[in-house]
Amino acid sequence: RRWTHSPAALAGLKSVTEDDLVHFAHFLPPTSIVSTLSPSAAPSSELESFNNDWMNKYHGRSTTVLKPRTTEEVSKIVKWCNERRIGIVPQGGNTGLVGGSVPIRDELILSLSNMSKIRSFDDVSGILVADAGCVLQSLTDYLAPHNHIVPLDLGAKGSCQIGGNVSTNAGGLRLLRYGSLHGSVLGLEVVLPDGTILDQLTTLRKDNTGYDLKQLFIGAEGTLGIVTGVSILAAPAPQASNNVMLALPKFENVLPLYKETKRQLSEILSAFEFMDRTVYDLAVKHGQGRALNPEDVEGAECFVLVETSGGKREHDEQKLNSLLESLMEADVPLINTGVIATSPAQFSSLWAIREGLTEAVSKEGKAYKYDISVPLYKFQEVVDKTKNHLQEKGLLHEDAVKYVVGYGHVGDGNLHLNVVAAAYTPEIEAALEPFVYELVASYKGSISAEHGIGAMKTHALKYSKNETSIEWMKKIKALFDPNGIMNPGKVLP
Ligand code: FAD
Ligand code: MLT
Ligand code: ZN
Repeated sequence: RRWTHSPAALAGLKSVTEDDLVHFAHFLPPTSIVSTLSPSAAPSSELESFNNDWMNKYHGRSTTVLKPRTTEEVSKIVKWCNERRIGIVPQGGNTGLVGGSVPIRDELILSLSNMSKIRSFDDVSGILVADAGCVLQSLTDYLAPHNHIVPLDLGAKGSCQIGGNVSTNAGGLRLLRYGSLHGSVLGLEVVLPDGTILDQLTTLRKDNTGYDLKQLFIGAEGTLGIVTGVSILAAPAPQASNNVMLALPKFENVLPLYKETKRQLSEILSAFEFMDRTVYDLAVKHGQGRALNPEDVEGAECFVLVETSGGKREHDEQKLNSLLESLMEADVPLINTGVIATSPAQFSSLWAIREGLTEAVSKEGKAYKYDISVPLYKFQEVVDKTKNHLQEKGLLHEDAVKYVVGYGHVGDGNLHLNVVAAAYTPEIEAALEPFVYELVASYKGSISAEHGIGAMKTHALKYSKNETSIEWMKKIKALFDPNGIMNPGKVLP
């Protein structure tokens, strides 16, 4: 078992008891209660998936999962827990990568999985209102016949929920094009820690009526309340999408390539995703997407996946082709090769390589994931410095750290530094932390670009936020949640 910080935040919080279950059973059906305490004791295996995170790195010991069906049910549960001082961990698709979605001890897990109704969609304004438990992919599927898309896409789309996305302020693969959820989320419905329902589920594009409270819950990781409904501005579906995988001879070409790609593709550029050679090879090894031909990858130090989303296929193809021609024909070519998708299957296959990196890394070993914002030109330096540091510590070998890889969202300045180890060990963790955080701070970067703080980085918040900011974050937390029941031990040190 692995506790990354002191459980002080849990002091004073109570465990769920059989009496609590009797109370919950007054308004929840048996199918909404999974508990080892209930008379018809659920097998502990049923709780296992709720108590363990996606990476199998963080493990809780909750005895009880509740799956309310309505906002009113959420409100009743939260009110009771607040009165009884029971800690609550809101859980969406449990795909978070910082240990925020599982309990630290035996907090009650409130799963949003039974709240998955679409409440409304207006195909003129493009505004979608949905329950927080809607799975991202199901929203995408719902919007497709209406010629709209969710302005967010990520590899976990088949499991993650819109409420979880909002609560982590997920970035994803097309933030470059559609911006952050702080812009596209128009309203939220939130159950506050005392059970009050805060209805801010507005569908207005413009609303300057004082403090914009909903922004506080975007990225709060369940520490200020439970998001139960989301109003989001969907984007018009692109009429044509193309992509190309570019193989680069050296990392130094990424920045000039990005500049030139932006200049030539301008309004149709929708993604510019980077991966180094080592992580590409891991994706291929673990069967993510279809490997490029050997001659296309020969001599490549890294790859960039470029996507266009536009209004007219011929126009977009022409722009993409002339970009490629100019890149190849330059006196010093920026790329070795470019593999353009010529069919929907190939389009998906190129994306599958990029979207499959997380899974490939997890299949290869135990991943220490550092999701950082640093200046673009430092991406490779961060990977190299981390590798050298581990080498100096004698930890870079098959039985300790197998690989140090980098990939990420170049357009957003967001690097995913992944250290792939044979096992999670205190020795490796001590070598990596605070080393990585100090490195990030030296570039004035962020220790969490998009995954959040969760349980993993509470002790490291200080590397990206000054004392005054942390003090005010604590005051906000105390104001909303004076009893500290909401996702205790997460985000704040
Ligand atoms: P969970 O994991 O269940 O929860 C995440 C946090 O939000 C927890 O703190 C939880 O308590 C809280 N929470 C969940 N639901 C609610 C709610 N309704 N109200 C209040 N709090 C709530 N992230 C990115 O930003 N970009 C990516 O490209 C990306 N790709 C990923 C790819 C893979 C394969 C995986 C496994 C993860 C990826 N992630 C990415 C991580 C990312 O944070 C999540 O996938 C997603 O946003 C979390 O949604 P979820 O429903 O799974 O939330
Ligand atoms: C990604 O960009 O693939 C995600 O943020 C997940 C990860 O960092 O592995
Ligand atoms: Zn990412």
